[in-house]
Order: sequence, then C-alpha cells, then structure tokens
Amino acid sequence: MPTKFNNHSKAKSLNIFGDAEKASVHTAKLIAELILEQQKKGKPSVLGLATGNTPKMVYQELIRLHQNESLSFHNVISFNLDEYYPIGPEHIRSYTYFMREYLFKHIDIKPENIYIPHAVCSPDRIEDYCRDYEDRITNFGGLDLQLLGIGRNGHIGFNEPGSSFDSTTRLINLHSLTRKDAQADFGTIDNVPRQAISIGIHTITQAKKILLLALGEKKSEIISKALKGEISTDVPASILQKIPQVEYILDRDAAALIQD
Ligand code: PGA
Repeated sequence: MPTKFNNHSKAKSLNIFGDAEKASVHTAKLIAELILEQQKKGKPSVLGLATGNTPKMVYQELIRLHQNESLSFHNVISFNLDEYYPIGPEHIRSYTYFMREYLFKHIDIKPENIYIPHAVCSPDRIEDYCRDYEDRITNFGGLDLQLLGIGRNGHIGFNEPGSSFDSTTRLINLHSLTRKDAQADFGTIDNVPRQAISIGIHTITQAKKILLLALGEKKSEIISKALKGEISTDVPASILQKIPQVEYILDRDAAALIQD
C-alpha cells in the first residue's frame, strides 16, 4: 500500500510507493480506469502523454493491460506534451519515434487520434501551428488526464524556468540543464536541439486530472522544491500546488526529502 499524505503537505494528493515499478503500475491503473469509465459512458478519453525515462514503465504496464486484459485504446485521443524543434518525426530521438516505439505500435490506438507537435514546420508558421495544436485540444473538450514527468529544473513539458503560468503551446528555448540531461540521448551536447514546441502551463493546468510521476533520487531535490517551496515561475511545477486535481505519484527515492 502506498503512503498517503493528504493533510501534511500542500499537495492535494500525494502517493509514495516503495519502488518505481509500483508507482508506475499505479499510474497506469489510473489511466486505464479513466479509459474504461469513458468507454462505459460511450465517450472518448483525451489523454495528455509524456516522454522521457519516467513514463516508460507506465507504458509497459498499459501495453500489458492491452495484451493480457483486453484494455482497448480504440477511442483514446492522445496529445503529446512536447517535441524537440526542429527535428522530424522519423528522427530516432524525436518524441514521435519514442511514442511509437514505447507505446503506440503495441496498442490499438487509431493513428488519426494521435497528436504530437510535429516540429517540422518552418519558423514563420510556428505560431499558427501552435495555435492550431491548442485549438485541437480545446475542440476535443480539453484533456481528461495529463501525465507529467518533472525535469531537474522543475520543468513540466518543456515549460522551462521563467515560463508564464498563463502560457499556451509555443516554441521554447531549452534550458542548459535540460540540454545537459538530454546529452546521453544525442551523443554530444552540440547535437541536442536548442528549442522545442511545448504545450503551455495554462494548457496543462486545465486538464481535468493531472498525474505527476517522479522516480529516483535525482528527482528528490526538485520534488521538495516543487511540492513544498514557494510557488514561482522559477520552478514551473510549483504552480501545481494550487491545482486541486493533481496527484503526485512518487517512488521512495524521489520522495526522500519530503518525508518527515
Ligand atoms: P525524465 O524527464 O523522465 O527523462 O527524467 C522528465 C522531464 O524532463 O520531464
């Protein structure tokens, strides 16, 4: 059973699990429950999905539920949080590629229901492109659930420190720590893109349910700042302290600095 802290911190709902796998399985279960609930009502589920190391085990578990427990994604609409700019969807480090490999090719989601900010449009079209991405989310009635990781600088999506809490989908300059953390994937720091398209903080906080998953000791410091520190654009995830529909899902290592 997870440790629950609903009254001892500013967090609306904070669940701490013994290890990353348990935290990930719990996260996948919440996503699956939403999908099933919506299916019962005859409605689609609009999911905001994330990339990076953090959600990999969540996706593994969703694939398992699809393969072994007949969870269907036929009426799931998915919007990814972000994508590097300017790399195309076929690039092996693109998030389009990531989502295909780690989730989409293993499940029955319809290709036409998958939205990822394809970062191939020319700089003069970016603003229109971002507005269109935002409008598409709105036209589906907004996100039913947003899955988030957290960067070591507190970013959610690629909303880097300094991002306005009112921000919507836009082109962003990546923070040096974000680029450093991506270096292992790209080989050298010079290969790491300097920009990305990301949905905004406003877009995220409008989701009907938000799951922030953080795993491992290297997230413990930023988790402490994001959950217990001042609400400030210096730590973008800190805005979630004000959002009632957030559930923080942590493993014991990520929670190391917030447990009394
Ligand atoms: P990670 O990245 O899951 O690879 O740690 C999380 C993030 O930057 O949001």
